[in-house]
Amino acid sequence: MCGIIGFTGTGDARGIILDGLKRLEYRGYDSAGIAVQNGNEINMVKAQGKVDNLISIAEKNDKLIGTCGIGHTRWATHGVPNDVNAHPHLSEDGKFALVHNGIIENQLEIKERLIKKGMTFKSDTDTEVMVQLLSYNYDGDIKKAILKTMSEIVGSFGIGVLCADNPGIVYTAKVASPIVIGLGVGENYFGSDITAFINHTKNVIDLDDNELAEVSKDKVTIYNYKGEEVKKSIRKVTWDIAAAEKSGYEHFMLKEIMEQPAAIKATIEPRIKDDKIVFDELNIDIKKFDRVLITACGSAYYAGCVGKNVIEKICRLHTSAEVASELRYSDPMIDEKTLVIAVSQSGETADTIAAMKEAKSKGAVVLAIVNVVGSTIAKLADYAIYTWAGPEIAVATTKGYTTQIAVFYMFAIWAAKQLGKIDDKKYVEYIQDIKRLPERAQRTLDLNTKVQKLADKYFHNKSIFFIGRYFDYAVCLEGSLKLKEISYIHSEAYAAGELKHGTIALIEEGRLVVAVCCYEPLLDKIISNIQQVKARGAEVLALAMEDNKKIFKEADDVLLVPKTDDIFMPIIEIIPLQLFAYYVAKNNKCDIDKPKNLAKSVTVE
Ligand code: G6P
Repeated sequence: MCGIIGFTGTGDARGIILDGLKRLEYRGYDSAGIAVQNGNEINMVKAQGKVDNLISIAEKNDKLIGTCGIGHTRWATHGVPNDVNAHPHLSEDGKFALVHNGIIENQLEIKERLIKKGMTFKSDTDTEVMVQLLSYNYDGDIKKAILKTMSEIVGSFGIGVLCADNPGIVYTAKVASPIVIGLGVGENYFGSDITAFINHTKNVIDLDDNELAEVSKDKVTIYNYKGEEVKKSIRKVTWDIAAAEKSGYEHFMLKEIMEQPAAIKATIEPRIKDDKIVFDELNIDIKKFDRVLITACGSAYYAGCVGKNVIEKICRLHTSAEVASELRYSDPMIDEKTLVIAVSQSGETADTIAAMKEAKSKGAVVLAIVNVVGSTIAKLADYAIYTWAGPEIAVATTKGYTTQIAVFYMFAIWAAKQLGKIDDKKYVEYIQDIKRLPERAQRTLDLNTKVQKLADKYFHNKSIFFIGRYFDYAVCLEGSLKLKEISYIHSEAYAAGELKHGTIALIEEGRLVVAVCCYEPLLDKIISNIQQVKARGAEVLALAMEDNKKIFKEADDVLLVPKTDDIFMPIIEIIPLQLFAYYVAKNNKCDIDKPKNLAKSVTVE
C-alpha cells in the first residue's frame, strides 16, 4: 500500500529519493517523508499530503545533504495521515530511521513492553513500534538487531533502515510485502517496486520473505533469518522507463487505456505457436479437476467473473468466482480436485494471498494469473501465467484487467481442447478470434472522441446504473467500479433481469442507465429491460455490437463496438466504459490517477 525507496552511492540522495517517491506515489499518497544520512547524522523531513508537498519542503532543507537515505509515501493504516504519523520514524535515541510497508499485528503488545522499559512514543503508528524495538534490540550489531526484531514481529513488512553508526549503508528486509533491490555501478537501490529506480538500473534482485539485505554503494549482501549469507540471482527487467512515464498523456489511466491493444497482443502472442495455444508454464492435466474456483479482489475479481462464464461455457467444467476476502474465512469446500485460479495485477494483494494459502492448505492446485514478475502471488502459486501488461501506474486498473481476461480466454480454450469439449474447427475459429483481439481493441479506441462527448453530456449525474445480462453483466460490474472509483459518482451494476426486484424503485426522471447489449442471444431480453427503465424516465446510453440497428430505436445514445464471437465481447466492450469513467471523472475535476482513499496495491486486510 505504501511506497518505499532506499539509495546509497555517491550522488545526491535527496534528489534521487524524491524522484523515486514521485514514481511510487500511486502506491499511497496521504503523506510522505525522507531521511538522509550524512556521516553519523540522520536528517529527516515529512509532510502530509502528496509527494509534491514533501518536495517543496525538502528541496529547501539544507540539512538533507548526503549520499545515502530512505523515503516513503504512505497509505495510512495505523494513525491518521499527518506529519507525525508519516514515515520515516526515528527511534527515541535518534540512532535509527525506518520506513515500513505492511501491518504489525502484535504492535500493542510490543509497545506496552517497551513503555514498561521507559520508552516513549510520538506517533500512532505500528512503524514507530518497530523502530523502537530495533533500537532496544541493538547492542552495536545492526544485522543481529534487525534479525531479532524481525523474529519478534507478527505481521507483514517491507522495511528500509538507516543506522547512524553505519554511514553509507542502507538495510532492507521483508515478510509478505515486496522489496526489490536495484544494482547500479557504484550505487545501489531498493524499493517496494521497480518503478522506484527503473531510471537508474534494470538489474534487480527480488528479496524473499525473512531475508535481510545490507546495501552499500559497491556491495549487496543478503542474509537469511539465521544470519547466513544467501546467494541470489540477478534478474533483468524487460520494460523500460517510458513504460512508467506518462509519455505526453495527461493521465496514466488514459495512457494505459490506449496501451491495451499492445498489452493484449504481448499477452497473447507468445502463447500462440503454429496456431495452437501453448502454455509452457502450465504442466497440468486439467482432466484431474472436477471444479475451478477463481478468487481475487476488485477488478481482478470482476475479470474472474468473465473468466467463470467463459470456462463454464466452453469447457463445461463447474466454475465459480469468489471474492478473496470472503473466501479466506468461509471454510471453502475445496480439495485436491479443485483448481483454484488466483488473479492479481500487483501480485501482492493480502486477501488474495490469504485465500491462496487457504486453498493450498486444503490440497488445491493453485494457478495464478498475475502481472508482476516475481511477486508474492506468482511465487506462492503452483503455476503462474503472466499477463504481459507492463507496469500499471494508475490506481484504477485498465490494461491489467483486459490482459487478465485475455489469459482466461486462452486458458479456457486450451482447457476445452484438453477436455475434448470443442472440436478442431471451433478450436481454429477461437484461435483466429483471439489473434484479432488486439486489432479489435484498437478499433474500439476510435470511440474515444464520441465517448468524451457523451461524458460531457452525462457527467452531472449523481447516480448511474449499469445493466447487462450474462457476459455483459460481468462487464457492467467493472464498468460501474471504474466510474465510482475515479469519479466518486454513485453507481451500481445490475443483472438486467434482477432490476425489477427492487432497484428499479431508484429509476426516476433523468437517471442515466448504461445498458450493455453485446451478448447477442439475449438482445431481446435486455431491450425489454431498457424499455422498462425508459418507461420510468431513465435516459439510456446503450453499448451494442456494430451491426445492431434495433438499438437506435430504444436508447437515447448508442456506442457501437466491433463485433466478435460472444465470449470475446467483454474484452472489447469494457474499453468504452473505461473511457466513459475517465472523461466523467475528468469533467468532475477528480484526481484520476490517484483517487481519494484508494491505493494501487492493497497489502493489508
Ligand atoms: C486495488 C486496486 C484495484 C485492483 C484491486 C486488486 O483495489 O485499486 O484496481 O483491482 O486492488 O488488486 P490486484 O493487484 O490483486 O489485481
